[in-house]
Amino acid sequence: MYDCNKSNQEFKKTFILPKNKIITTVNIAVLKETREGENRVALTPAVCTQLIKQGYECLVENNAGYQSNFSNDAYINVGCKIVSKEEALLKANILAKVNAPNDEEINSMQAGSACISFLYAANNPELIQKLAAKNISAFSMDAIPRISRAQNMDALSSQANLAGYKAVVLGASQLGKIFPLLMTSAGTITPSRVLIYGAGVAGLQAIATAKRLGAIVECTDVRPETKEQIESLGGKFIEVKDAEAAKVEGGYAKEVSADYLQKQKEAVNKSLFMADLVITTALVMGKKAPVLITEDQVKQMKLGAVIVDMAVEQGGNCELSELNKTVVKHGVNLIGQSNLPSTLPQNASELYAKNIQNLLTHLATKDGFKWEMEEEITKGTLITKDGVILK
Ligand code: NAI
Repeated sequence: MYDCNKSNQEFKKTFILPKNKIITTVNIAVLKETREGENRVALTPAVCTQLIKQGYECLVENNAGYQSNFSNDAYINVGCKIVSKEEALLKANILAKVNAPNDEEINSMQAGSACISFLYAANNPELIQKLAAKNISAFSMDAIPRISRAQNMDALSSQANLAGYKAVVLGASQLGKIFPLLMTSAGTITPSRVLIYGAGVAGLQAIATAKRLGAIVECTDVRPETKEQIESLGGKFIEVKDAEAAKVEGGYAKEVSADYLQKQKEAVNKSLFMADLVITTALVMGKKAPVLITEDQVKQMKLGAVIVDMAVEQGGNCELSELNKTVVKHGVNLIGQSNLPSTLPQNASELYAKNIQNLLTHLATKDGFKWEMEEEITKGTLITKDGVILK
């Protein structure tokens, strides 16, 4: 594999556009995100330092990193150019973004340039058509294959990890009680009980965070292999007996049967009704999130308990949670905040920028960017090329 860190000069000056038009400098542009509530930025000064060493020019829109605590000066100090949005889009050979480019941005991009961002192609067919029509090579950060050698590019995981941490912190601050056991002269406070649905990346980080704060943690997942992972973090796995476990495809759990969900409810209810904080992270790729907590179950929960529904954007794991709202139903607080990584914009941007840098390093060859269409990571991630929608 070509190592562009070792051969910077050789790599430096070629960029081969999809139709083999060779240009001399590779400009990477970073824009200020326009999605409401988005505080992250696609590239940080630290990652720009590395990219500039590798021969790229980094064009950063004025104040693109401000919300993530990266000032214009921090970018300038490592050799980036601060430019207007128009200039960034006009000169970009590669546009790096967190969220997909909007219509105005797509219109202003150069035909034949590349774009790297989250795209969620299956849910956004119109966006994908526009990118293809503009002849943009669009890479989707949510489509990185779940294979070991792609782990350092896996933006879904890097962001889910932070979201899992933040969910616990949010829930803890909403609770009227502390997490750890506390023995005082005025009496003993018993530890809080935390129940987590789903032991993927977010769920495992939520377990670790809740344990660090001193809670008693239990967790349910449709994949039995998570038992060992949950226990290694000090959590207790809630087993669903006599039910067929979920099949896993491409690293994602498949949908389970109604019978399984019913048995899961029965297995988990005792823990749910005793829980102080519940974090739900259960997702099934390409489907609406499974409803795991009904109104009837909420009614039986403790007064003042908190549910943080991390699946709220995919429809919610609790049928009472509301997108981007904290509501109180039957005495239970339901937190439905979306885009939790954006509430930790500094760290989220740091990790996301590293994911992009690793993808760029993967895509670069000694002849510039000549993506090999059959290579698994490129094939999985490249959504449009030469005006064609690839998936
Ligand atoms: P996810 O975000 O797709 O889903 C979250 C969790 O919900 C999963 O663990 C899933 O099994 C669980 N779930 C689904 N339905 C449920 C239900 N009814 N009740 C309870 N739980 C339910 O998961 P995530 O975070 O993407 O991770 C899934 C697996 O993929 C993990 O084992 C993770 O380590 C692995 N992974 C591997 C990567 C790689 O090798 N590069 C990258 C990312 C994840």
